[in-house]
Amino acid sequence: MNILIIGSGGREHAFAWKLKQSSKLDKLFIAPGNAGTAALGQNLAIDTTDFSAIRGAVLENRIQMVVVGPEIPLVAGIHDFFLADAQLKKIPVIGPGSQGARLEGSKEFAKEFMVRNGIPTAKYFTVHQGNLDQGIEFLKSVQAPYVLKADGLAAGKGVLIIEHLHEAIHSLEEMLNGLFGSASSTVVIEEFLSGVECSVFVLTDGIHYKILPEAKDYKRIGEGDTGLNTGGMGAISPVPFATPDFMRKVEERMVVPTIRGLRKEKIDFKGFIFLGLMSCEGEPYLIEYNVRMGDPETEAVMMRIQSDLVDLLEGVAEGNLDEKNLVIDSRTAVTVVVVAGGYPGNYEKGKKIKHLGSVEDSVVFHAGTKLEGETVLTNGGRVLAVSSLADSMDEALALSYKNTDKIFFDSMYYRTDLGFDLK
Ligand code: AMP
Ligand code: GLY
Repeated sequence: MNILIIGSGGREHAFAWKLKQSSKLDKLFIAPGNAGTAALGQNLAIDTTDFSAIRGAVLENRIQMVVVGPEIPLVAGIHDFFLADAQLKKIPVIGPGSQGARLEGSKEFAKEFMVRNGIPTAKYFTVHQGNLDQGIEFLKSVQAPYVLKADGLAAGKGVLIIEHLHEAIHSLEEMLNGLFGSASSTVVIEEFLSGVECSVFVLTDGIHYKILPEAKDYKRIGEGDTGLNTGGMGAISPVPFATPDFMRKVEERMVVPTIRGLRKEKIDFKGFIFLGLMSCEGEPYLIEYNVRMGDPETEAVMMRIQSDLVDLLEGVAEGNLDEKNLVIDSRTAVTVVVVAGGYPGNYEKGKKIKHLGSVEDSVVFHAGTKLEGETVLTNGGRVLAVSSLADSMDEALALSYKNTDKIFFDSMYYRTDLGFDLK
């Protein structure tokens, strides 16, 4: 089978690495890909939302399956685009249509869906220009800190957590007035939940599902979870507090009602569902849905899936995922994200990355790189995801750190304390 992966980050490199191990794979294409994916397949210089260029590439290269990495093309309707095209409609797209993608594309839709389907989540109130007074009343009725979320996609920046009431009211007004553009013309105010976070991933054909390895993501730039939020500075799987008992609660209270709710609402969902949840004294609460895999969680999760990913994705496409086998490695996978100095603020690109060839016993997934001739250059804020699998978290981390230390590019930075909270 010829497969096209859409995206250019560490998640897509990890998908490519895993798909490449399948005997069912013929040719692999990645649009647009990076220097890492170029070693596994053919990169196509196509933007992830240029559907007509994607159409051309799919027909020209006889692509038989499309795996969509990021949320933006999903929310923009790539799956619907395929279904509406006579020549593309039989080609399976892994990822939901725009209806299902609203679970990520609209926080209001996601919260309403959770409530309709009895899924435990924080109390909330939806505000727009017309009901600001009621929004302020709701803010006054909950305890600090205050959680304000832009309804729409805001490149991971649309959530504000604010200590003082008067600042929260001010920020609410600013959001409604376009702080995040049209994404914040509607704002969801939420009650603050206190607990530990974990990402749970589900693969579904719309009827059946498989729960993939869960992971913990480290979002803050600084040691000890301090400083600005980033796209993710590392990930660890499994998560020690996600015990079998906890995961049973997640399955019964979240996964089953989500799949049932999608069917009841006639939303055909073939792809990945990412549950971003909080454990509050052992009880799971759903913070958010994403309609794709997480990044950098995928880099750790793919290392723990022993089954053939092409076979699993065929199950998604054909609606017989229940007949497929998911075997998970019980060992621990970690990924250490190496970023460009200055990230998540301003940073430079185009730095030469040295000594990638000296890495042993880890897999270096490329997150933001490009090739110039034979040279690998930095091409993003998150640059590399150095990933390892070992019998324990400490051993896996030691391997990733040993290899990260061998790599060099000007102003590189990474956190050295991943897993500090899990020991
Ligand atoms: P989201 O974009 O919805 O994942 O939110 C970003 C981050 O804000 C989450 O990863 C949590 O750390 C935090 N957060 C979101 N909602 C809440 C909440 N209701 N209570 C506490 N923290 C939250
Ligand atoms: N690691 C969080 C995300 O992919 O959104």
